[in-house]
Amino acid sequence: MTNSSSAQPLIAKPAKHPLKGRIKVPGDKSISHRSLMFAALATGESHITGLLEGEDVLQTAAAMRAMGADLQKISEGEWHIKGKGIGHLQEPTDILNMGNSGTSARLLSGILASHGFFSVITGDDSLRKRPMARIIKPLSETGAQFFCREGQRLPMAIMGTDRAKPLGYRLPVASAQVKSAILLAGLNACGTTWVEEPIATRDHTENMLRHFGVDVEVKPLPEGGKRIEITGPVTLQAKDIIVPGDPSSAAFILVACALVSGSEVCIEAVGLNPLRTGSFDMLQKMGIDLKIENRRIEGGEPLGDILVKASHLKGIEIPAHVAPSMIDEFPVLSVAAAYADGTSRFCGLEELRVKESDRFTNIVEMLRGNGVSVQVEQDDIIITGTNGLIPGGGKVSTHMDHRLAMSASILGLVAQKSVTVDDIRFIKTSFPNYFALMNQLGAGFNQ
Ligand code: S3P
Repeated sequence: MTNSSSAQPLIAKPAKHPLKGRIKVPGDKSISHRSLMFAALATGESHITGLLEGEDVLQTAAAMRAMGADLQKISEGEWHIKGKGIGHLQEPTDILNMGNSGTSARLLSGILASHGFFSVITGDDSLRKRPMARIIKPLSETGAQFFCREGQRLPMAIMGTDRAKPLGYRLPVASAQVKSAILLAGLNACGTTWVEEPIATRDHTENMLRHFGVDVEVKPLPEGGKRIEITGPVTLQAKDIIVPGDPSSAAFILVACALVSGSEVCIEAVGLNPLRTGSFDMLQKMGIDLKIENRRIEGGEPLGDILVKASHLKGIEIPAHVAPSMIDEFPVLSVAAAYADGTSRFCGLEELRVKESDRFTNIVEMLRGNGVSVQVEQDDIIITGTNGLIPGGGKVSTHMDHRLAMSASILGLVAQKSVTVDDIRFIKTSFPNYFALMNQLGAGFNQ
């Protein structure tokens, strides 16, 4: 998709009713990508339930099919996959278009590096702006070759190798995508691949590799963080996977319920991996009335049902070390901070500049354009809470970014005047039934 005239705008009007009901958010995006990739790399047949069928995940499915794996949709969220086995993927006959999905592009690059054939990856206008140097630098050490545009942007051609050297790499940025790309390359390399991360990032790759029978060693580092090791080449044994609800999608509903007066909602079966739920912890510190019931483990990942009620939120300081566990939730947390009583400071948000859009700049513009006072100090964003009186009335440019679009829609729901969101099409990449669910709760969006 391009950022063109076919844009679909939304006028998000202030909520007239409280949000009420019981819902389930779609499957976790990170886990959905990995389940398709790993099942396609496994030996045997895997069955997946709860798969997110957003556009991003469907790009991953298309890429794995283009390399010879058999992926069949059985019913909504239910997929059956016959794996090709590590080292047995086929050269794709065409360019792999990853659309808006950075996770597909970066994780697949790891797989492609250690398969000895030629491939080309591209993406939409947003993805073609995002940096690939962070994966090209380490993955080149396998012996694979990468060629791309100025600034190491997509399109990117990869000449992979069947004789990949195992990598050893200390992550210079906290990135689960980079960590995963390296581990995936290591699956078909001969010897021990290791990654050190100074701050822990989401560990779905490690959890799922174990689920597929791979020996993954994780050791804490004396200075903090961890070292992850696998020894290849490995065989993945096909497994069934249950994908939990996406905590990043649940965060939009949580914030909307906390801010719309009188709301009371239960979100069932939400993933609660502690490396993903930093935003829940921070919202609790802000004063959200949130309870978790029915905690359980399914497919190696913790989940539970979240009960949330309208709450009086206070400003908060979010330290930089918390950022990786809530990296995708800052746009919606910024709406909560704008509504809260008191000032909030979000620290160390450098990585937000290289997401689906420059979220650092776009969060600031979204709030300022709707009458909220925001300061920037280096990589920190400081938001002056309005104590429930966000003026609204502005227009938000979402820059092909699904999470900005959903955050802006919630801003409109809780502001005093309607907020115009320039384009809501990209919400389909991660949360295809967002408006249907919000309207089921009573949000009254008219898109
Ligand atoms: C993801 C990792 C994060 C996150 C993205 C999904 C993943 O990106 O922002 O939405 O599935 O590994 P980074 O690795 O760039 O932090």
